[in-house]
Parts: sequence; structure tokens; C-alpha cells
Amino acid sequence: MKLAVVGGGSTYTPELVDGFARLRDTLPVGELVLIDPDADRLEPVGGLARRIFAKQGHDGRVTTTSDLEAGVDGADAVLLQLRVGGQAARHQDETWPLECGCVGQETTGAGGLAKALRTVPVVLDIAERVRRSNPRAWIIDFTNPVGIVTRALLRAGHRAVGLCNVAIGFQRRFARLLGVAPDAVHLDHVGLNHLTWERAVRLGGPDGEDVLPKLLAAHGDTIAGDLRLPRALLDRLGVVPSYYLRYFYAHDEVVRELGTKPSRAAEVAAMERELLAMYGDPALDEKPELLARRGGAFYSEAAVNLAAALLGGSGPGTQVVNTVNRGTLPFLPDDAVIEVPAAVDTEGAVPLPVPALDPLYAGLVAHVTAYEDLALQAAVRGGRDRVFTALLAHPLIGQYALADGLTDRLIAHNREHLAWA
Ligand code: G6P
Ligand code: MN
Repeated sequence: MKLAVVGGGSTYTPELVDGFARLRDTLPVGELVLIDPDADRLEPVGGLARRIFAKQGHDGRVTTTSDLEAGVDGADAVLLQLRVGGQAARHQDETWPLECGCVGQETTGAGGLAKALRTVPVVLDIAERVRRSNPRAWIIDFTNPVGIVTRALLRAGHRAVGLCNVAIGFQRRFARLLGVAPDAVHLDHVGLNHLTWERAVRLGGPDGEDVLPKLLAAHGDTIAGDLRLPRALLDRLGVVPSYYLRYFYAHDEVVRELGTKPSRAAEVAAMERELLAMYGDPALDEKPELLARRGGAFYSEAAVNLAAALLGGSGPGTQVVNTVNRGTLPFLPDDAVIEVPAAVDTEGAVPLPVPALDPLYAGLVAHVTAYEDLALQAAVRGGRDRVFTALLAHPLIGQYALADGLTDRLIAHNREHLAWA
């Protein structure tokens, strides 16, 4: 089995490689190709990847290339984990919205739109080249904003599934709090990428007992602390929102806080420099502890599970992924991309039926879905008006003067990445 990783020079790659090595019974990777235009990253990352495989007795081959067509040739699955403009562009996304009193974040709000505009054309071009060389390959998209990017891929007819680590993170966290094995925890996880809620935590199977009320009673303070939301809010809702909901439920508080500290991009850039220096050390043969300070915990396990199920291996049949709605949330268009548990096999991912969503959540999901649709139009077709319209449609923006100010800033800070600007 051959896997290709576009953005293989990412400092996250050792996390992925560690997962491939540990979980080789689930997903037997014969060849792993790391594809990246940046040789300064690709070399140290590729070297460490080989040492991780060797140390763990994995006989798969790790190769590196900057040539996309050569790299994806014959691949069964292609993982996309790229970041157009790097942490420098992310730093912009996280800072200029603050000038307008809006959250600065890489996937939420105006910063998220900027990222979508930079990313969608690049990902569509890569996917087209993958399809030309290898029409049967599955595309697994980690590239943010995952909801919009996956919708772009599916609309263009690609064999694609979007993936995020939020659900597997909750599964692992709740399992630890409950003292049970992670696989025993089945989440009623619903919403859009980075806009989800855990409505039930079932033990033993999808129809098992819902222990969420007990979990909140026993560990509500811990969970609220992780999310940096008040315990009282979780008790009142009776569900666990993802930490991205803090940007909505505590928007102004977050804006005040972000104004007083360095951006996450700056923090990550410093960590990346340190990580790359470590990766270059031939004595290092495992993923370093420092990598745990990044947000991507467990993403390798989610990736292994998804690739294994898509490629006919032994991955779990039900997984939380980003895929097309097809009536699952009846108040959304059929071609919207939602994040829910889905049945995954070699034909792709089909959402399982979900209980009706309360208006409190359905309203926000519908609102953000409409924004995502307009964001995708802006990303594919370009133009100031489309950017303005998408921002006006965003529930965290909504006012014309704000949308105007943000539009000007978005374009000014992203001109080099926007063909039409
Ligand atoms: C979580 C999200 C990812 C995001 C990451 C950021 O894992 O699910 O979509 O890319 O956090 O982590 P970072 O360490 O770059 O801030
Ligand atoms: Mn994510």
C-alpha cells in the first residue's frame, strides 16, 4: 500500500509517521512518500520519519520528493496537510481582524475566510493533478478550513473525505476521565468542522448507555477548564461544545485576550524552529515531546483509521468525518459538508442518521453553512464583492461597516496569494 502526504515537510509529519508505525496492523503502509516544495523541511522530516520506521521495526519505505506527480503516482491515498503562506500568513489571519474588534483565528471568522481564499485554489489544483495521474486515489483532507476545503473537493467531483482531530480528541479525553478504553466511547458528535457539540457519550456501542450527564456531574470542572468555558454553561446546555465554540460563546472575551498576547502562529513558528533543529539530529528516532504542545493530538490515529477503512483494511466502520450532508441535517442543503459519525468503507463515507438538532445549535449550523457556501464562491471565483458578502453572512460579523473594514484588510494582507486581487 502506498500513501502520499502533500505537505509532507510539515513539522506534524512525525506524529503521522509514529501512528503509521504503531498501527501497522490496521494500515500496512509499504511506501510513504512525503511531498513538499520546501527542501529545508523535507530533508530533516524525511530523515526522522525513516528513523522512526526503523526503530519500530517497520519495513515500509519512506521517500521524499518535491515533484507532486511523481510522488502521487500509484498512491492508494493522498493526505493533504498543507498551509499556503505558512505561519506568516496565519499570523496575519490571527491579527488584522482584531483591529476591527473581531476574533483573529486561523479557521473561524474573517481569518478563516482568508485561509480559505488562499487555500481552496491550491488544493483544487493539487486534487486535479492527483486525479489525472491516479483517478482511483482517495484524498484525505486535513488542510484547513476542512469544511470549506472538503466542500470544494466534493463539488469538483473528487474522491475526498475531510478529517479533524476534535472528535477523536474528545473520545480519548472522555475515555481517560471515565477509566475505559477509547474504543468503548461512542460520541453523538454533530455539526460542522470546528463547530460541533458532543450531545451524548455512549459506552460499549452506538446504542449503549449515555453517560454524558454522569460525566458532566463528575468531571464538569475539568471539561469546562479544558474548553475555557464556564462550568455553568456546560451544565445549562447539557452538551459539550468543541473549544472552537468559545469563539462564538465568548467572542468579546477572546478578542480582549488575544489583544494581550503573541499570536498562536508566532508561538507555533518558534516551536517549529526548535522541532526542525531536533529532527535534523541523527540521534533522534522518535517523535519529540515538544510536538505534544501542538493542537494535532491523535490526528495520526484518526488518519490511520480513515485510510484503513477507505482502503479496505481493518479500520473501524464508523468514524467521525467531514462528508456530504445528503439530508442528514434536513435543514441544510444536500451538498453541504457536515461533521458527524459516518459509515466508512472502500466506497467512501456516508453519514449515519442523527437525532434532530435543537434550534440553539441548528440555527448556528445553518448560519455558518450559508457563510461557508459564500466563502467557497469567493475562493473559487474571487472578487471584492464576494469576499464582502461572505463576511456579511458570517454570524460573528454581520454588519456592513465591519464587513467592509475586514474585506479591505483581508485583501491587503493576502494580495500575493489571491490571483484576482
Ligand atoms: C486542532 C485542529 C486543527 C488545527 C490545530 C492547530 O488540532 O483540529 O484543525 O490545525 O488544532 O494546532 P496548532 O498547534 O497549529 O495551533
Ligand atoms: Mn481541525
